[in-house]
Amino acid sequence: MYTIRGSEMMRVGLFDSGIGGLTVLKSLIKRYPENDYIYFGDTLNLPYGSKNKEELKRLAKKNIEFLLDKNVDLIIIACGTVSSNCLDYLKENYSIPIIDIISPTIKELNNNEYNSIGVMATEATINSHIFKNNINKTVYEIATPKLVPLIEGVSTDNLNEVIREYLEDLIDKIDVLVLGCTHYPLISLEIKKVLGNDIKLLNMADYICIDNNGKGTVEIYFSKVDELLINNVKKILGNTIKVKEIEY
Ligand code: DGL
Repeated sequence: MYTIRGSEMMRVGLFDSGIGGLTVLKSLIKRYPENDYIYFGDTLNLPYGSKNKEELKRLAKKNIEFLLDKNVDLIIIACGTVSSNCLDYLKENYSIPIIDIISPTIKELNNNEYNSIGVMATEATINSHIFKNNINKTVYEIATPKLVPLIEGVSTDNLNEVIREYLEDLIDKIDVLVLGCTHYPLISLEIKKVLGNDIKLLNMADYICIDNNGKGTVEIYFSKVDELLINNVKKILGNTIKVKEIEY
C-alpha cells in the first residue's frame, strides 16, 4: 500500500477522463472521510485510452494545473491510462506528491498469492505493458476499448455481449482479474456474471492509502457537463452531489 504522511489538513486532488475516477473518489471518501477532495473529469477529451503518450502528457499537465489552482496538497491520478503512460514525466515536472493508481495494485499482486493474473484495461495502458513488465507471474493483458464509451452511456453496443467477447477466453486461465481502468468497477456486477464467483476482481482504488485527516468536503468539476453526466455522477456518489462545469 502507498502511504502519504503529512499535515493534519489534506486537500486531495484527483483527475480522470470522465466518471471513472469517481470510483477512486468513492473508495477514498469511504476510507478517509475527513479529507477534502477536489475531483476533475476531462469529459471534453474523453476517451483517453486511444490517445498517444504526448497527448496524454499534455492533458495530464492541464488537469494537474487545474487542481494546483485549487490548492491541493496531493494529486491522485485516478486514471489507469495516465498512470501507465505519464507518471515519471509528471513526477519530474511537479514537486507536489503524486500517487498513481497502478503501482499499489502491482505491489499487491507481487506480494500476494495470485498465480495467474488477468488485466483488462484501455489500449494505451495495455500497450505500455506496465503490468506484464512489473509482475513476475503469468499475466494476460487484454485491451477493452469498447467499454469506456458504454460506461459513459455514449455507445449503444450491448454491454453483456461486449464483456463476454473480451473475457470469455480468460475464464479457465486466471484466478484474479485486475480492473485496470478506473471506469470498470462501475460494471463489476456485469463482469462477475461472465466470470463467475471463483475469479477475484481487483479494484485498484482499494490499494491506495492516504494517512491524513482534514475537514471533509468534496468538489467535482468536469470539462463538459450534460444531463447524462449528472445522472451518472449521482448514480455513483448519491443524489446530493453537485458538479460544476469549467471552461477548459
Ligand atoms: N478511466 C481511465 C483509465 O483508468 C480512462 C479511460 C478512457 O478515457 O479511455 O484508464
